[in-house]
Amino acid sequence: MASRSNIADFSIPVTDVPRTASITAAIPRHSPAERRALITEIKAELKRQDAVLVAHYYTSADLQEIAEETGGYVSDSLDMARFGNEHAASTLVVAGVRFMGETAKILNPEKRVLMPTLEAECSLDLGCPVKEFSEFCDQHPDRTIVVYANTSAEVKARADYVVTSSIAVKLIEHLDEEGKKVLWAPDKHLGRYIERVTGADILLWNGSCIVHDEFKSRALGNLIEQYPDAAVLVHPESPEEVINLADVVGSTTQIIKAAQTLPNKQLIVATDKGIFYKMQQAAPDKEIIEAPTGGVGATCRSCAHCPWMAMNSLDNLLSTLKTGKNEIHVDEAIRIKALQSTQRMLDFARSLDSPVLKHGNA
Ligand code: 13P
Ligand code: SF4
Repeated sequence: MASRSNIADFSIPVTDVPRTASITAAIPRHSPAERRALITEIKAELKRQDAVLVAHYYTSADLQEIAEETGGYVSDSLDMARFGNEHAASTLVVAGVRFMGETAKILNPEKRVLMPTLEAECSLDLGCPVKEFSEFCDQHPDRTIVVYANTSAEVKARADYVVTSSIAVKLIEHLDEEGKKVLWAPDKHLGRYIERVTGADILLWNGSCIVHDEFKSRALGNLIEQYPDAAVLVHPESPEEVINLADVVGSTTQIIKAAQTLPNKQLIVATDKGIFYKMQQAAPDKEIIEAPTGGVGATCRSCAHCPWMAMNSLDNLLSTLKTGKNEIHVDEAIRIKALQSTQRMLDFARSLDSPVLKHGNA
């Protein structure tokens, strides 16, 4: 497991990735009346159970709307964690992918944490199993271990710091100023981006997001020629060549803020298209254009929508609330260790003076 340049010379293959189109085709279709009835029932269950819904921007508009209308929250992975941590509800219902539910449990052991489905994975988490990761860390004892939130509780337990894309550059800058060398996992594109921006000494795990990996720089270049006045907004999990074409690189919340504040009337967006729901609300007068995941001979599997995020539906949300199934449990010894690195993330975020948005949203 030696490293070639500054990236691990092995990777863990992530197999059996579902096609987003197959997942969405399997989600039950409802008439408008059925949909309204489901939403009413979900809202009543949330109230009855003293539960709050915390949803990621990549989940469906229906789930985001329910979260907002019931005093819950829609945001990026950092603020989802912070909101759940500060909210008084005894049950947190996390609509997103498993690491988000686990982070909520790590921070809130006294709360019941439910998810609409426990099958919602993340390719970054799957591509970073704790055994191989631990061995990699053991080989580099001189490095501070920083892991992206998109990892299992076990991997967080092995790390010195957890971080999300919204504060990753700032944290690595800070560690670099302290003279620390960093071992970064799992996302190699985000890691390379941070390395380029900060100049820090970073050793990279070889993982990637199957959604952002599909954005194509050549096709994006053609789109930019077609829309020369558009601003290009890119999530840093995208490949380097795509990031190089960006006007703004940032977390999901930072991308929405840029959509609001930039003067450009047209925005080309390279991240999961679930974000368009909030982005369009935040910037109603702007035209949002999807960055290409196919074209120039390429085809896509996720086609800019995470298959695992797409697994969250009205039906499984209601079923979870009614049955109490899909509860997140984290082994207590692991949780205590993972809490240290996760709490450091929250403390660091607080030191940057970025407030938690109480009710909502970009
Ligand atoms: P954010 O922290 O920007 O919400 O990213 C989470 C994620 O999974 C992006 O793919
Ligand atoms: Fe993971 Fe990518 Fe899905 Fe985000 S979009 S949850 S990084 S697979």
